[in-house]
Amino acid sequence: MDIKIQQIEQSKIDSVDFDNLNFGRTFSDHMFVCDYVDGQWVNPEIKPYGPLLFEPSARVFHYGQAVFEGMKAYKDDNDDIFLFRPDENFNRINLSAERLAMPSVPENVFFEGLKKLLNIDKDWIKKGLGNSLYIRPFIIATEGAIAASPAEAYKFIIICSPAQSYYAGEVRVIFSQKYSRSADGGVGYAKAAGNYAAQFYPTSLAHKEGYQQIIWTDANTHEYLEEAGTMNIFFRVGDKLITTPTNDRILDGVTRKSIIQLAKDNNIEVEVRKVSVSEIKEAARLGELKEIFGSGTAAVINPIKGFKHKDTTFELPNIENSYASLFKEKLLNIQYNKSEDQYNWRVKI
Ligand code: COI
Repeated sequence: MDIKIQQIEQSKIDSVDFDNLNFGRTFSDHMFVCDYVDGQWVNPEIKPYGPLLFEPSARVFHYGQAVFEGMKAYKDDNDDIFLFRPDENFNRINLSAERLAMPSVPENVFFEGLKKLLNIDKDWIKKGLGNSLYIRPFIIATEGAIAASPAEAYKFIIICSPAQSYYAGEVRVIFSQKYSRSADGGVGYAKAAGNYAAQFYPTSLAHKEGYQQIIWTDANTHEYLEEAGTMNIFFRVGDKLITTPTNDRILDGVTRKSIIQLAKDNNIEVEVRKVSVSEIKEAARLGELKEIFGSGTAAVINPIKGFKHKDTTFELPNIENSYASLFKEKLLNIQYNKSEDQYNWRVKI
């Protein structure tokens, strides 16, 4: 594939304080853009990161025809650059696109565009555990037409943002009693932009109560815990690790499936099954609930310090040798090329 390259004249990298990054606010010098017109992906281009021009009638603005992915690039001590299980993101963006009646992105467009972009902006990937370049591939419907039907023109774009941690402080959650993130037969499993927008209002209510996130429950009964919206969730009850199964409401997280594999290979008993609110409250009451943590590309593995449900509030104990820190260390060591990777998850660019 021939990618047209238009490089910036002056990099803005020197103006960035890489030790004090707010997640998703700073972008690297370039972006990759490819158009879908007349049934074909055309005009692949790397150009300076900056505004794009769209008609106000572009369908993405009216019907939310937009899907995205989250990935990270890591640099090791030798300046080699790695991705983590990128095939999973490639497959998932196309699964999401199919659900939103959007065209799939071909493998060469996705990977050649991504690799070229990372090579051009490689100085934006900082070394050191915890530093990474967050990669946001996305597809949007650009055709100017407001009939409520799928667009005929799209853009596939990749932008990159240097990242450290996603959550600035401790995370406490509310188990949802009223609002839902997704429903059976809906788009919960897709990384559809609207899934995230729909969470903002209930999450802002949680913020007012001093909680950072909501753990979504099933839409029918609000009795089963599902995911945290930016993260899949895990519970440690005694020494057992429990996580909810993925289905058409829950995102099939790459970090989630990696943790399940790591747990099995480290002789930790894992149960993938429905988890009820009452079970977790009871385990908390009996002192058996040792940990809750979330997993995701942006958040990596984030311990949840406490939860609220109806009148119950609960603080998780601080424990030594937590599963959250064990899995985080193992994952980061693979991602940053600090340990053997028996799974071939790490892909060198
Ligand atoms: C990710 O973890 O990459 C995500 O896509 C979550 C996002 C809302 C920050």
